[in-house]
Amino acid sequence: MSNTAEIKVGGQSYELPVIEGSEQEQAIDISALRGQSGVITIDPGFKNTGSTTSAITFLDGEKGILRYRGYSIEDLAEKSNFLEVSFLLIYGHLPSNEEYTRFVDSITKHTLVHEDVKKILEGFPSTAHPMGVLSSLVCAQTAFYPESLDPNRSADEVDMSIIRLIAKMPTFAAWSYKNQIGQPVNYPDNKQNYTANFLKMMFANPAEAYEVDPVVANALDKLLILHADHEQNCSTATVRVVGSSHASMYASISAGINALWGPLHGGANQAVIEMLENIKKDGGDTKKWMAKAKDKNDPFRLMGFGHRVYKNFDPRAKIIKKAADDVLEKLGVKDPVLDIAKGLEEEALRDPYFVERKLYPNVDFYSGIIYRALGIPTDMFTVMFAMGRLPGWIAQWKEMRENKEPIGRPRQVYTGANERSYVGMDER
Ligand code: ACO
Repeated sequence: MSNTAEIKVGGQSYELPVIEGSEQEQAIDISALRGQSGVITIDPGFKNTGSTTSAITFLDGEKGILRYRGYSIEDLAEKSNFLEVSFLLIYGHLPSNEEYTRFVDSITKHTLVHEDVKKILEGFPSTAHPMGVLSSLVCAQTAFYPESLDPNRSADEVDMSIIRLIAKMPTFAAWSYKNQIGQPVNYPDNKQNYTANFLKMMFANPAEAYEVDPVVANALDKLLILHADHEQNCSTATVRVVGSSHASMYASISAGINALWGPLHGGANQAVIEMLENIKKDGGDTKKWMAKAKDKNDPFRLMGFGHRVYKNFDPRAKIIKKAADDVLEKLGVKDPVLDIAKGLEEEALRDPYFVERKLYPNVDFYSGIIYRALGIPTDMFTVMFAMGRLPGWIAQWKEMRENKEPIGRPRQVYTGANERSYVGMDER
């Protein structure tokens, strides 16, 4: 294939370079097009626009492939653990024994948050959604570590911010839940591993002893791995764009958390369970809800179905479906909502509307069912996703800064009024 592309605008031809990725993906580099021709390209929702080159995650939506730094998601979910995957994403290679120990030890050392964080937390009413609390607490780290605002810090100083954020994220997440239910917060227990520590902070209370079930901790660890990165999705693109202005890592990731919150992105896991519960309450007639999803006059969509890039299947959904079966069996949980989910999936997979549009269950279709079985309340689901996505956001932010990427600033095609004169209030 030629390594240039030709674009004709108003009879004039322009030759543009075509760049190739390490998996032979081709992209026309249009960055010089406006300078040469005066025209821009338009692509609402960036459906066909690459915003960057990246060496972190490879995703082939047609073939259902997902790899972090070259390692398949199937291998990592089965053989690795969340902190090892975090190191891999952020630093680009699997850690040696020594690197891994140092990484885990420093994360464990920094789990405690400044005591004044409690005061910020107490300022939130119990009606606050934990995602809003989480993004606020992450951004508030800029106040406790003002040196993190300096865009020209050394790599060691950046590493310190990274360690602090990974270490404190479970504390923020668990505390956002405690605030909601009006219980005192639990301090981290550094004798526990990353996920067990989170579960203990989330579920222990002064009235009852809480023992972390290893089945629950392992299932959660696997879910975090599956969510750890997903190349240039809505929240990651947000992190990179915010960071491109040289805003701090904490501010950039706080923005990413807010982007993740929406039901078309990470908020889908909460929306899936709410949908399944509504279907159950309504008598469990999946056909009726399928018809609603297909009706263009009805705003209802089958939550947990469809994906911007997976037009075959979401490989994470396959792993999660199996994990959901395992966890439910091991914990002895019978969840009628799972039967509704399975029924909906079966119907959708043979329904021409879904087949023609290549709408398959995505990662969030089954993750909510596992979270429920693990005892995690519905509006904490997206917080779980944020905990999982954190190393991906950090890796992407770090890559963007190290590559010295320019500020993200899209253009537009203006469709408003042409120039007109101001008319005073009395004359209107
Ligand atoms: N239910 C019913 N119809 C759907 C669904 C759905 N879940 N998803 C897409 N469609 C239809 C659209 O109506 C559209 O139909 P049309 O061609 O007749 O107009 C067609 O499929 C293409 O859909 P788009 O919205 O154009 O696809 P896009 O790539 O922009 O959106 C998205 C992807 C947002 C994920 C969409 O499929 C959706 O809303 N799904 C439900 C929400 C969800 O599960 N989000 C989680 C995504 S995974 C993640 O963020 C971790």
